Amino acid sequence: MPTVLVSKDLPGDALDRLRRAPGARVVVGAHPGGGVDLEDVVALVAVLTDVVDGARLASLPNLRIVANVAVGYDNVDLAACRARGVVVTNTPDVLTESTADFTMGLLLAAARRIAEGDRVVRGGGFGGWAPSYMLGTAVSGATLGVVGLGRIGAATARRARAFGMNVLYTQRRRAPEALERELAATYTSVDALFSESDFVSLHCPLDETTRHLVDAERLARMKPGSVLVNTARGPCVDEAALAQALATGPLAAAGLDVYEREPAVHPALLARDNVVLAPHLGSADRRTREAMARLAADNVVAVLSGEPPLTPVP
Ligand code: DGY
Repeated sequence: MPTVLVSKDLPGDALDRLRRAPGARVVVGAHPGGGVDLEDVVALVAVLTDVVDGARLASLPNLRIVANVAVGYDNVDLAACRARGVVVTNTPDVLTESTADFTMGLLLAAARRIAEGDRVVRGGGFGGWAPSYMLGTAVSGATLGVVGLGRIGAATARRARAFGMNVLYTQRRRAPEALERELAATYTSVDALFSESDFVSLHCPLDETTRHLVDAERLARMKPGSVLVNTARGPCVDEAALAQALATGPLAAAGLDVYEREPAVHPALLARDNVVLAPHLGSADRRTREAMARLAADNVVAVLSGEPPLTPVP
């Protein structure tokens, strides 16, 4: 029987919606096998840790859609899907505000040493207020450099403006004038952004042009006392170089939600107090994750009903 294979259990009503797909049964489980004939699989609901490459596609000869429960889709080989006529969808928009909220959380936590302070208090190390005790980096009035002024980058810039920050941005093409005006955002080159920002926040997709976009050379350009935030994809940052820049400067701190070899974290980062490490939680509020799962499910139902997908990857 035609099967919708769901790689990981989904929150909310997504599975119920999938069960309404015409003439298909729903199987939840990361590893196909046991009870699933791979030839039956017509839809794959994937998460960002599922690698959907040529080999995976070859094992699913009747696949019609890969519905990724994420806005990023660097885990999916788009060319291979296209060549086989497999539709790929993602979950844009529904996670924009949530991820921007989390980005600001990491930015503030890193700048103002919130996670580090929590460890100090719990460890019994708080000896009382003092004028020069645990000084962090000022946020209001500082310049935020946004790498990638897409939906999440723009939502982060909007929040940064509310915190009194100035905004620089870089990306391949200049943003529409109206957006630049709304955010009072100044377009600049990648290198200038790294030299002129007090905070740099990554919001670019991962591809061959952004892998190690933040390397030793770019980190060396950053201002003394600056802060790097990454809620995009781990491999955009050379973690060894970042650990070095956090140890010897110029960076004061970093806030990371994603990792080069996720879920592993570079041991030199784990050893540092001036980096806030989150376990890929950018979109992890209940309402957002339910909306992501629902959108992925609705994409599957649409395609299996012979309708166009709601949010195809371009
Ligand atoms: C995405 O959607 O790409 C995020 O990384 C998931 O939180």
